[in-house]
Amino acid sequence: MREASASTPPLRDEPGGPTQAVGRGQGKLILAGEHAVVYGHPALVVGLERGARAVARRADDGLDRMVLLEQRSGEPLFEVVDVPTPQEPMERAWRAMLDALGARGQGVRVEVSLGLPPGAGLGSSAALAAACCRALASLLGRDEATITRAVHASEGVFHGSPSGIDQAAALGGGLLRFERGDTPTLTALHAPPLHLVIGQPAPGASTARMVASVAALIQRQPALGPHLCQTVGALVEAAQTALCAGDHAALGDLLNINHGLLVSLGVSTPTLDTACHIAREAGALGAKLTGAGGGGCVFALTTAETTPHILDAWDAHGWPCFAVKTP
Ligand code: PMV
Repeated sequence: MREASASTPPLRDEPGGPTQAVGRGQGKLILAGEHAVVYGHPALVVGLERGARAVARRADDGLDRMVLLEQRSGEPLFEVVDVPTPQEPMERAWRAMLDALGARGQGVRVEVSLGLPPGAGLGSSAALAAACCRALASLLGRDEATITRAVHASEGVFHGSPSGIDQAAALGGGLLRFERGDTPTLTALHAPPLHLVIGQPAPGASTARMVASVAALIQRQPALGPHLCQTVGALVEAAQTALCAGDHAALGDLLNINHGLLVSLGVSTPTLDTACHIAREAGALGAKLTGAGGGGCVFALTTAETTPHILDAWDAHGWPCFAVKTP
């Protein structure tokens, strides 16, 4: 199950003419701080080279249509047309993007391919929206602020009340500290490269459902829930210090603790816990779930030497996995 595409060539913009434009959006990996970030605590996120790539054109038939292509074959997987009463989440997200971009009724066709597993905690929906909105904005002449609003509107369909961390990574990439607020604060971090292995031991769960389950826990446990989130916030501060100092042993400890706190918040599963234990036993410095949890992806902090051991260990369980090195 190990993916050959660790060596997938990076997505690149291609020259577009006046009737077509290309956009891309990056996936993301939350290093630390998911869920607590919804309550105003900081989080650390890194953009992934993998993401989504979209091509927008003027449509011959005058309809506003988004077509998802199979990444390798380029064959259409499904398409979404702007309908009078959108019902399905993808239809509502497409409508939200078109409205925010002032593109509805203009007769546009966007073909998009996704290089990430959907709904697994790697920011696939934000990457897809960022690619589509960038391509459409470039075709129709919209500014960066409009793109940001359009991606946020699309994310609202999938996530309810998103913190904005996925869209920040999808649009900007790099290594970031993110803090939600009236205006989200993004700080670019400079740190020695990290060797990471990302694995998906289970299908993903709905982000909106997982965020709601944490909110319900905090409501049931008002004396403890906010403290758990505060502890995650303190952990993120320490993780940022370790990250920037290149102290990967300390960072590994903090990732393990963060996973434990996510277990306490009720968003891990036995399979995600097992995947983390297996990675640690195979030599990882630390391992945790990433994103909303309830299924989806985990990642391990490794070294160039231990990366193959973690890949082999997860591979032996049939879990899709790949290695990345941050820039
Ligand atoms: O949608 P995911 O799995 O990438 O998770 C997003 C991170 C959360 O903190 C769980 C939600 C949010 O909006 O920040």
